[in-house]
Amino acid sequence: MADDRPRKPESESGVTRRDFMKISAVGAAVPVVLGTVMDAAAEEAPVQGPGKVPVTLQVNGKKLSAQLEPRVTLLDALRENFDLTGAKRVCDRGACGACTVLLDGKPVYACSVLAIDAQGREITTIEALAEGDSLSPIMQAYVAHDAQQCGFCTPGFIVATTIFLHTFPSPTPEQIRHGLSGNFCRCGTYDGIRAVALASGRGKQS
Ligand code: FES
Ligand code: FES
Repeated sequence: MADDRPRKPESESGVTRRDFMKISAVGAAVPVVLGTVMDAAAEEAPVQGPGKVPVTLQVNGKKLSAQLEPRVTLLDALRENFDLTGAKRVCDRGACGACTVLLDGKPVYACSVLAIDAQGREITTIEALAEGDSLSPIMQAYVAHDAQQCGFCTPGFIVATTIFLHTFPSPTPEQIRHGLSGNFCRCGTYDGIRAVALASGRGKQS
């Protein structure tokens, strides 16, 4: 049966057959354009690895170089290649904070940063926080407040506490709880650790 309903001219429907063909042609071209952009990006950032590549890190004011596979974490590079074993590998998955180091002055989990990505940044480990052969006041406060048992979490906590007290020189108990919540202590020494932060914030380490 013939459809004798009046038809809208193409120009009234908003999109003519010619427009439709143009839109389709552009749509088909998008993947090509995106592919070109992605190819250009790939050319700018050459793929590294999987074999070893030269990596240079700025750690505690010194340049340290090694040949590392790109998959190596900052934590493993520090511990296995540069003999800086203060940062501890406990969970190795960014959950406990035992591996905390400073990257450009900010605390990070070294187990969750690739060594090649840390190039060009200033890395500070617990080794640099001591004052020569002496403990820093915050380290002394950890001892005075009996704020460790097995000690595995302690270096990460001390790095976190040190940078936390720079930001909050006179913290409240709530700020301490929140500010140090990225570090876990399986031995449960939290009361001692909070006492350290409170006493240090008041200018008293013991
Ligand atoms: S070892 Fe890095 S967060 Fe636990
Ligand atoms: S002192 Fe043992 S995990 Fe904190």
